[in-house]
Amino acid sequence: MHIHKFEKIWLIFGITTLLVFLSVIGVSAFYLGNQPPSCLATINPEKVDTTAPFDKPGLKKVEGKEWDYELVYVASAFSFNPAKVEVPLGAKVKVIATTKDVIHGFEVAGTNINMMLEPGFISEYVTTFDKAGDYLIVCNEYCGVGHHMMSSKIEVVE
Ligand code: CUA
Repeated sequence: MHIHKFEKIWLIFGITTLLVFLSVIGVSAFYLGNQPPSCLATINPEKVDTTAPFDKPGLKKVEGKEWDYELVYVASAFSFNPAKVEVPLGAKVKVIATTKDVIHGFEVAGTNINMMLEPGFISEYVTTFDKAGDYLIVCNEYCGVGHHMMSSKIEVVE
């Protein structure tokens, strides 16, 4: 079988590119340890209300951890619990969230907090609120007829 010179060059280029990308992913995952965030923490989605820490949503001061506060959210169609929370300026906060029913989004507008909340899984993100003001939390995964009304608010106060 005769393969044209340009075909050969293109095949070599394609296969080389594939091998380079697979190596990058392999090194990133197994050598540098990069994993999708919080893919391991699970929860029974039917028992969210009685499972700690989701039995008491809201802000809690914690001691002896790398962060100062834990901010717990429970999402369900079509609201976030708590609907509003005050966070002290400069606080290092671990946001811990899950959903009781369907997939919801958890995006804090104007920050890089953007998580998907999946039934049965716990999503976590550690951040520092170093700018005072109101932050809107929106659901950015379409979850039903009330999707556009699903929001919450973080007030960062001095
Ligand atoms: Cu919840 Cu969209």
